[in-house]
Amino acid sequence: MSPEIWQVCSQCGTEAAASSPATRCRACQGLLEVRHRARTPEERGAALRERFDARSRLREPGSGVWRFKELVHPLVPPEAMVSYPEGNTPLLSRAPLATWAGTAALLLKHEGLNPTGSFKDRGMTVGVTQACWIAARAVACASTGNTAASMAAYAAQAGLPAYVLVPASGVARGKLAQTLGYGARVLSIRGDFDACLQLVEEAAEPLGMYLLNSINPFRLEGQKTIVFELLQQLGWEPPDWIVLPGGNLGNTAAFGKALREAREAELIARLPRLAVIQAEGAAPFAQSYCDGFAHRPRVAANTVATAIRIGNPASFDRAVAAIRYTDGVVGTVTDEEILEAKREIDRRGVGCEPASAASLAGVRKLVGQGTIRRDAHVVAVLTGHVLKDPEILLSPEAKGQVREIEPTMRDLEEAIGP
Ligand code: F0G
Repeated sequence: MSPEIWQVCSQCGTEAAASSPATRCRACQGLLEVRHRARTPEERGAALRERFDARSRLREPGSGVWRFKELVHPLVPPEAMVSYPEGNTPLLSRAPLATWAGTAALLLKHEGLNPTGSFKDRGMTVGVTQACWIAARAVACASTGNTAASMAAYAAQAGLPAYVLVPASGVARGKLAQTLGYGARVLSIRGDFDACLQLVEEAAEPLGMYLLNSINPFRLEGQKTIVFELLQQLGWEPPDWIVLPGGNLGNTAAFGKALREAREAELIARLPRLAVIQAEGAAPFAQSYCDGFAHRPRVAANTVATAIRIGNPASFDRAVAAIRYTDGVVGTVTDEEILEAKREIDRRGVGCEPASAASLAGVRKLVGQGTIRRDAHVVAVLTGHVLKDPEILLSPEAKGQVREIEPTMRDLEEAIGP
């Protein structure tokens, strides 16, 4: 066992080396988790914060993932990192959006401004680095689109063949186009995301492909840095709430792990609460939350937010742990509420894809219900870029607003009006 980092089954406790290519426990098929050795007192608290802060003050701050490498994957030397670089996303303050959501202090962590336009790049830089480290021959994933685009880009950079399985209907065009552009082999599966994931899990090992869905524990190590980076941007003073959309629940699991480790490493003195927002038509986790997580329902998912159209989330159990650890909540928003929030975000010049807008719609709803206080400090995570899903913007109604005219001053004057 490596003294720095290893893997452990979160179900039965069986340990595996960091270099093991299996993404599930060989003994019981449970999900694996990356463990880091305990940090000495000199490696915690102010000393660790200063180490991270010094890196972000550099003229070339580099990757916003690998800046936190001690808490991500400490064994990887810089030359082995497959990095774009990624991260360093802004924490935006937009008064009209705070007013719309009903909170005094709202910040938006815009993960859609990562290199391929979604938060997946943070997990993928670590996942593809790990794939190279264990000498994988190819990588594979099932995806509603963003994971596919991100994996394709990082695999291309590493020179690895990439295979993605996407549901035959419902993948946003921007995501599909990117994935093809980066050179991945795209397989359109006659089934939903859950069917794609089941198939790729079954096929990955026998077909010699390293699985890079968020069940891969190294993906989550990268995604933890959304939390580390936003805490750092806040001078290590945690907000009261962190609000994020939930689909396959990898991010929820990563956020819970990040907060636990940030506490253990004494980076922060208190915990923010997590609020996970699902689309009403794809809300197995929210349903389960309502009965105290007594049941684990599966649903036939349907929502306009195709990124989170998922009925049987893979990281369910570890997301439950994240909600319990942070005294978190799980809520739902309707498609109408998602689209209304998206319109607000877009017309303030920020922009995001539909799934991301579930965060802001969720903040508004939870404030309305009195769960989030009006004076609470809230960080809402925007997970994907506005260009990911162009169809949703180019509705017949929106297209109707585009007017074609002759290239003359007269036509232009007339079109602009008085
Ligand atoms: N927001 C966006 C834009 C996403 O693409 C996803 C997931 C989520 C939120 C939900 O995150 O699954 O960690 O709960 N997209 C995956 C994909 C499933 O294949 O791109 P999660």
